[in-house]
Amino acid sequence: MSRDWIKWHDEYEVPGSSLARRLEVVRGYLRPLLDRPRRVISMCAGDGRDVLPLLPAGSRAVLVEWDPVLAGRARAAAPSGVTVITGDAGTTTPYAEIAPAEIVLACGVFGNVSYEDTRRTIAALPSLLTPGGTVIWTRAGESPVRSLFADNGFTELAYAEPTDARFRVGMHRLDRAPDPFLGDVRLFTFV
Ligand SMILES: C[S@@+](CC[C@H](N)C(=O)[O-])C[C@H]1O[C@@H](n2cnc3c(N)ncnc32)[C@H](O)[C@@H]1O
Repeated sequence: MSRDWIKWHDEYEVPGSSLARRLEVVRGYLRPLLDRPRRVISMCAGDGRDVLPLLPAGSRAVLVEWDPVLAGRARAAAPSGVTVITGDAGTTTPYAEIAPAEIVLACGVFGNVSYEDTRRTIAALPSLLTPGGTVIWTRAGESPVRSLFADNGFTELAYAEPTDARFRVGMHRLDRAPDPFLGDVRLFTFV
């Protein structure tokens, strides 16, 4: 990987920073969904700080993170019921043990992959979700992400586009029948 993702996480500690503000939006979307135990997937989970502190007891979650230091931090913060996989989130294989999930987090993913991989990943999300399952995603700036969700049977529940920051956060619900889960399907590769 070309970027130092550990250093990238440091911005979370800067009050008022774009990343700190983005985190509050993501958590704000997540909180009402986590009103009871849920099954959750986090792709490219980083240190898991968006979801781990909010998970109700009895939840099951799979967080997939490539960097072993960040995965270790997530593991150290994880309550029981959470599996942190140090590995490639860009195939469906690590999700086999939890799919279908009620919530999928794709935060910090779409800005780091090609348009084709974004399209492929969003098209595959119905195979990872329960009926009515929800995806929370982030992306910097304008992008085709919202229309790709619409094209794949999702309804937009919320979208944040602050005028003074580049981050965008979306929340989409699957409003069609899910697809069957298939293992070993390539979704994306970080560029
Ligand atoms: C922009 S950060 C987002 C982290 C976290 N989701 C967040 O929003 O705080 C991208 C993360 O993806 C991880 N990553 C990059 N390629 C990956 C891959 N193929 N599989 C799993 N994680 C990957 C990086 O190590 C980094 O932690």
